[in-house]
Amino acid sequence: MSRENSFSAKAIRAGYDSKDHFNSVNPPIYQTASFDLHDIDRTRRLWTGAEAGGIYSRVGNPTGGILEARIAELEGGKAAVALSSGMAAMTYTLLLLGQGGGNIVSGSSLYGAAMLNLLDFLPKYGITTKFVEDRNNPAAYEELIDENTKAIYLESISNPNIELYDIDAISEVAHKHGVPVVVDNTVATPYLYRPFEHGADIVIYSATKEINGHGNVIAGLVVEKGYFPFDEKKFPQFYYKNWKMRDLNDNKRSPVEFIPGAPVIASLKLFFTEFFGGALGSFESYLVLQGLSTLTVRLDKKIQTTKKIVEYLESRDEVEFVRHPYAKGNKFKELADRDFPLGAGALLSFGFKGTREQEGEFIKALNNFSYHVNIGDVRSLITNPPENTHTELEPEIHKLADIPKNLIRLSIGLEDAEDLIADLDQAFEKAFK
Ligand SMILES: Cc1ncc(COP(=O)(O)O)c(C=O)c1O
Repeated sequence: MSRENSFSAKAIRAGYDSKDHFNSVNPPIYQTASFDLHDIDRTRRLWTGAEAGGIYSRVGNPTGGILEARIAELEGGKAAVALSSGMAAMTYTLLLLGQGGGNIVSGSSLYGAAMLNLLDFLPKYGITTKFVEDRNNPAAYEELIDENTKAIYLESISNPNIELYDIDAISEVAHKHGVPVVVDNTVATPYLYRPFEHGADIVIYSATKEINGHGNVIAGLVVEKGYFPFDEKKFPQFYYKNWKMRDLNDNKRSPVEFIPGAPVIASLKLFFTEFFGGALGSFESYLVLQGLSTLTVRLDKKIQTTKKIVEYLESRDEVEFVRHPYAKGNKFKELADRDFPLGAGALLSFGFKGTREQEGEFIKALNNFSYHVNIGDVRSLITNPPENTHTELEPEIHKLADIPKNLIRLSIGLEDAEDLIADLDQAFEKAFK
């Protein structure tokens, strides 16, 4: 009897057939700027999309193609594109959806650079953002949607506040108004949460984090669920017929025709990587594929450790509060139980009850937590968001994003919980001696 592969099996094998790659067990790294075209008829087929294959690595390469196919399958999406960073994935997606101007409605608990992008960078290109302060209330999103709203933007597990959202309910509201929902699923990964199954339309990743999981690459992904009913007046960019997308008979085509059902990915692949660059390199794609194959075992262990760290921090007098659905009285527990049955991620934050000097001593004294801005590594990591990941944001924005001055973020790695707890223990002792 045949059965569909589990997530773990897909994370190892999806999108790859060794027969297409000289029987290489591992996806090869195609370290080349361009590809032999061989003959003019084949060239024509390649340029019209009638034949899949490499042309020039600025717009993509076969190792990246394997990663794109794999993430699309893991996510349950129609198509994907691999880009050079998570920020490229976010910015390209929103520049595309907001083409010609418009607004984004976004929850206000976000990664610092994402927030600054919405507040300060995208407005320079005519795309503004209305932040939802009552961000756990789906009706609050509806109040801010207008005829010029081009997307709802959310992080499925927000960084660093570990907030969760009822994306099913928010998507319902968005779809009533013809607005696509874009979800940054970086912290959750498709192993813990698949946004398309909750109504989202586009998923973006910083694959730099848990998907790769080894702290050795910068990478981004965009996945499109497919067949979103983009209104032609509001989103003319998907219906504009252009020569670049012509078929073999020289008929101009639009993004909705070039990849039926996936005009976002068609546009990102054909225009954004062409003009901005930013397709993920072959070596980086290889590293992300390798990391992805162990995603499930890494997260399973990290989630068990996270539970123990939350419990430990709650036992310390020097800790004012702990932010994670596993923390006592956390308001996202019910949503976590409903939508994150395998765990609500391995990122958490807490309030440090001490002076700035004591906080500095504490961070310096740690041996098993590296002081980094990154997350989702094999190593456990620590950072102080107000002075690091969110330092670019003005103080009143810290209030909007709920980043108190004493916030510390931990990204749990693969060390044993006992080693991490012993390390935290000795660091608290040193800081408060
Ligand atoms: C939730 C989230 N999204 C996006 C990004 C941006 O990703 P990258 O650093 O790969 O550009 C980050 C980076 O920290 C992040 O934490």
